[in-house]
Amino acid sequence: MANIAIIMGSVYGAAEYLADTIDKELKKAGHTTTYNASPLVTDIHDVDASLIITSTTGQGDLPSNIEDFYFAAQDKRPSHAGKPFGVICLGDSSYESFCGAGEKLEELFYELQGRAPIPMLKIDACETLDPDSIALPWLQNWLTQI
Ligand SMILES: Cc1cc2nc3c(=O)[nH]c(=O)nc-3n(C[C@H](O)[C@H](O)[C@H](O)COP(=O)(O)O)c2cc1C
Repeated sequence: MANIAIIMGSVYGAAEYLADTIDKELKKAGHTTTYNASPLVTDIHDVDASLIITSTTGQGDLPSNIEDFYFAAQDKRPSHAGKPFGVICLGDSSYESFCGAGEKLEELFYELQGRAPIPMLKIDACETLDPDSIALPWLQNWLTQI
């Protein structure tokens, strides 16, 4: 069983709702989680793995509740060396920077020397109104590989 940080970014609540669901799924499966409405850089200090669940706002920008985490992690560079991470990004393909926030956070975790066992999941609001139905099978796959 793993200790997993959930790093959530959301403007209007869709990514937060998904993160809440995933938090419950992880606990049901026997994992422990660190999950804050506004993530802190210390959330990833002593974990086995990190799961980023974020939407994108503006023009490929991060939701404001995850900005402090992002800038603090860029500044303090907490090591995630060899540890797995995963990214689930909610976006809308009608925007030029589709899932830009997920791309930024993926790059950050690679800079912290994390490893992504499976590719980022991009959920397109143009294609589905039910992110859970896509995210939960992806989560099961990610869990088998961390
Ligand atoms: C003002 C605004 C700007 C957005 N900008 C982007 C963007 O640049 N790229 C993208 O992929 N999606 C963009 N989106 C789509 C959202 O990321 C998508 O609707 C997401 O499901 C919202 O999740 P949330 O409720 O957690 O914020 C934007 C949505 C709004 C309302």
